[in-house]
Amino acid sequence: MDYATRYTAYQNAIEAYLNHLFTEEKPYGRLYEAIRYSLLAGGKRIRPVLTLEFARLGGVDWHLALPYACALELVHNYSLIHDDLPCMDDDDLRRGKPTNHRVYGETLAILAGDAMQPEAFRLIAQAPGMSAESRIDAVEILSKACGADGMVAGQVLDTVYDVEDVTGLTNLIRLKTGAMIAGAAELGCAAAGIFKEKRAQAVVFAEQLGLAFQIRDDVLDVVGDELTFGKPIGSDKDEGKITFVDVLGVDGCNQEVEACTNRAKAAIKDWEDHDFLWELADRMLGREN
Ligand code: IPE
Ligand code: IPE
Ligand code: MG
Ligand code: MG
Ligand code: MG
Repeated sequence: MDYATRYTAYQNAIEAYLNHLFTEEKPYGRLYEAIRYSLLAGGKRIRPVLTLEFARLGGVDWHLALPYACALELVHNYSLIHDDLPCMDDDDLRRGKPTNHRVYGETLAILAGDAMQPEAFRLIAQAPGMSAESRIDAVEILSKACGADGMVAGQVLDTVYDVEDVTGLTNLIRLKTGAMIAGAAELGCAAAGIFKEKRAQAVVFAEQLGLAFQIRDDVLDVVGDELTFGKPIGSDKDEGKITFVDVLGVDGCNQEVEACTNRAKAAIKDWEDHDFLWELADRMLGREN
């Protein structure tokens, strides 16, 4: 199966799964509406795609990994809603649409994000066809990826601290972006029972992919096209952020993205069926959105 066909199959299954969440009539229906507004706004679904692919590579029916994949995508979407708030990056545009708080107000945007976190862990707890051991494994992976020593730590460094050198910035993006992308890969391993060396290789692949992904994001924040990128250009500068572009320049960033991508690919070079993951990594190099 070629890359595009597989990616589309994963994406369609992810969209269908997410689309059946938060659909009931409730007296607090605006909460569900605010959650669905962001969750179904056309994200690329890179993280849940990684979960499903690692589950497939581990030899299980990848459909069984959908609750784990979509749990992490829920957390990712909460992180974006909160990331766009005036007290964080203060952005008005996400995926080409007004940000959550611009439509629903700050109170509901914060509360929608709050609700998406425990709902994610509920999906894992209730995942059909997964053993109790696997579900505990998944809870631990997701909590570490998004918690106080994961994505949130990175967001704190990004907003509250002045990080200005390559070592500090690498650590920052390793936490704010790398941790969730690595968590996505590891959730696929948890679904399929991949342990030890192979799991470590999967994590290195995804960590390096995560670094490349965030440096490319920082470059697109400078040289991207708003219509294609779906986010405001120049947002980091407006917020007074120092990113890799300030330290390495655009050319230096492009070289760094390539180096990270090569390290990612090298980590899984001995895997029998790595074509899809290699192509995904290559496509992330020059992504425009
Ligand atoms: C945006 O992630 C946040 C970053 C880590 C740069 P994505 O670019 O994966 O966002 P969506 O979900 O596809 O919109
Ligand atoms: C945020 O990084 C990554 C998160 C943990 C949400 P950015 O602030 O650069 O992400 P965008 O550019 O708003 O998507
Ligand atoms: Mg941010
Ligand atoms: Mg932001
Ligand atoms: Mg950005």
